[in-house]
Amino acid sequence: MKSIASAPGKIILFGEHFVVHGTKAILAAIDKRVTVTSTLTEDKTIKVNSELGTLEVPISSSYEAAKSEFRPFIYLANKMINSNQNVNGLEITIDSDIPVGVGLGSSSACCVAATGSIFGLFKEWSSEEILKISIEAEKTIFPDTSGADCTVCTYGGMIEYPSIEKIGNTFDLNLLIANSMILHNTKNSVEKVNKFKENNEERFSQLCDLETKLIDEVITAMKNNDTTTFGLKMSENQKYLEEIQVSNDTLHGMISTLNEISLGSKITGAGDGGCIIALVKDGNVNKVPALLGKDKECFSAKIDTKGIVWSKI
Ligand code: PMV
Repeated sequence: MKSIASAPGKIILFGEHFVVHGTKAILAAIDKRVTVTSTLTEDKTIKVNSELGTLEVPISSSYEAAKSEFRPFIYLANKMINSNQNVNGLEITIDSDIPVGVGLGSSSACCVAATGSIFGLFKEWSSEEILKISIEAEKTIFPDTSGADCTVCTYGGMIEYPSIEKIGNTFDLNLLIANSMILHNTKNSVEKVNKFKENNEERFSQLCDLETKLIDEVITAMKNNDTTTFGLKMSENQKYLEEIQVSNDTLHGMISTLNEISLGSKITGAGDGGCIIALVKDGNVNKVPALLGKDKECFSAKIDTKGIVWSKI
């Protein structure tokens, strides 16, 4: 018997970093997924197979001893084994089409899909339960997570975090994702922003207020079908991200290049590398590869509406 769960990756449209400090954020799940398959074994081990390698450890091994990319799986496997006395071992296989380490929610989607798959071996769980446990799993890699990423990967669609209510966007968001191909480390970027906050308390608090106002304006723009304002707000948000120093020359260069054919563009996720998103003007998408150059990867983002999907065979 296999328990299979898949969850989508995500983009942060507005509010990354500030969301860690209590502001709202707007996120959307995207049509790239990770699938986790779990099978019970008799081996008294937890085995994890992924494109990052294979790990096999005795059951009850501490997750802290594992490399960070394996920790959530060991944490989740032990949590499940501890609450089911007749489980001897577990094999977990991860298949993903979400690029790793570039701000598209690969680790959150893994945590959500792994929770659904591992815990789904015995019963179907509610989305609320899966979300709660997946955030615990993500904290084994990144203790300060806002929880926004796991939330959108669980529920799908576009959400105004911390609400899980889906935003029904009335206009067609022609969003393009471009990968700088520079890996980033969310924990390091968040720590850097914490330092910025410590050294610039008053300005950081102003920026949080500005971000809150900006998100309210974006919600109004969406209600009014106003793509121009939506794009302008992306570029305004990018200025706040530059001020807290999570951009760099490569990202800045990509954003400036795309501005001539976009209504707005910005970093998505932690920054310091990873991806940018651009609201490309109609008919301009095919110009992007030539503008950015061959060394950057770009693709259109479609919004996933399903969130976590689970099955048992
Ligand atoms: O780059 P990512 O996908 O790890 O996104 C991080 C988003 C932050 O706001 C910087 C952190 C968080 O937990 O919300």
